[in-house]
Amino acid sequence: MSNNTFLDACYRRPTSHIPIWIMRQAGRYMPQYQEVRGKVDFLTLCRTPDLATKVTLLPVDLLNVDAAILFSDILIPLEPMGIPVAFEDKKGPVLGAVQDDKAIGALRSIEPEEDVPFVLEAIRQIRGELTGRVPLIGFSGAPFTLATYAVEGGTTKSFHNIKGMMYSRPDLLSDLLDLLADVVISYLNAQIKAGAQAVQIFDTWGGILADPEYIKFALEPTRKVISGLDRSRVPVIYYLNNGAYLAHHLKDLDVDVIGIDWRQDIGHARSTLGKTRGIQGNLDPTVLFASKEEIARRAHQLIDDAGPEPGHIFNLGHGILPPTPMENAISLVEAVHSYKR
Ligand code: CP3
Repeated sequence: MSNNTFLDACYRRPTSHIPIWIMRQAGRYMPQYQEVRGKVDFLTLCRTPDLATKVTLLPVDLLNVDAAILFSDILIPLEPMGIPVAFEDKKGPVLGAVQDDKAIGALRSIEPEEDVPFVLEAIRQIRGELTGRVPLIGFSGAPFTLATYAVEGGTTKSFHNIKGMMYSRPDLLSDLLDLLADVVISYLNAQIKAGAQAVQIFDTWGGILADPEYIKFALEPTRKVISGLDRSRVPVIYYLNNGAYLAHHLKDLDVDVIGIDWRQDIGHARSTLGKTRGIQGNLDPTVLFASKEEIARRAHQLIDDAGPEPGHIFNLGHGILPPTPMENAISLVEAVHSYKR
């Protein structure tokens, strides 16, 4: 049976139900994922197409979501650029930070077929296994979000390295962003060529910037990415975390869908963004710690708030949290699918 409610919604075509997928849907909250992860570390999982295929399909089979998202990570293309990447169980990602002319000057662009063949092989394999059941989403980090990890060397609360560079060496940061935009373009185009049916650009950290800096250091490099994509056949989704105050800057961004975080009202965001694009979001991930009745009530309210026009893709406003009970994720998908206005 073909199920294209996700792609229909990307193009604002009417659908029989509101499509849903869940950010980080193949993750640690899922015992079946933990079983695979118990045997291999996270990067090995990302680099082994058979395993990446297996975990990509878990949420399609177990949650009944309307799209699969490639199992990988936004940090994967940084390694072939010359930035060592490791994942530590308690600390999260740890990278070889690039903070001066010498380190940034030594970075190189990537050739996806040579540098990350396992990503493209996973996409081909997943498409083969999905046999059209649901579409496959490819993804990348946005240049500013990738730069944040590259300059900070990992996750941070203060962002003083990247913002320090932004205020003291804007030229150097711009060089890095320019290179990252080129990398993201070739990375996403390779994913599209391998069979990704939509692509999402994750801008997790764009929302740490005030308006003028957001425009110069996050939005402009993202525009460069978007204009470089071979996108005649695939919808493009731009997800901005913590970006309610920035939404008005996205009005003319040339993407098919804008993904929003949970801190804003979806109806309001939709009217700010204009109704010519789809909208994705935006349930607070912690709603999944409430009762099934409350999850359904809030999901239905959100669908009503988004309004009756086609083009709403239901999602969480950020990634699902590892302690989330899996049966609550299943009941969210059911609540969204069964809702009739
Ligand atoms: O959604 C999916 O199922 C696809 C897989 C996916 C992962 N990461 C797997 C992952 C996707 C789309 C991502 C994107 C990603 N990665 C983002 C953007 C989305 C967001 O959350 O804002 C970011 C910022 C990253 C970077 C990253 N990867 C961090 C900060 C961490 C550690 C934090 C944490 O949650 O542990 C990761 C690790 C990671 N990426 C895991 C998974 C399943 C957990 C790794 C494990 O199994 O131990």
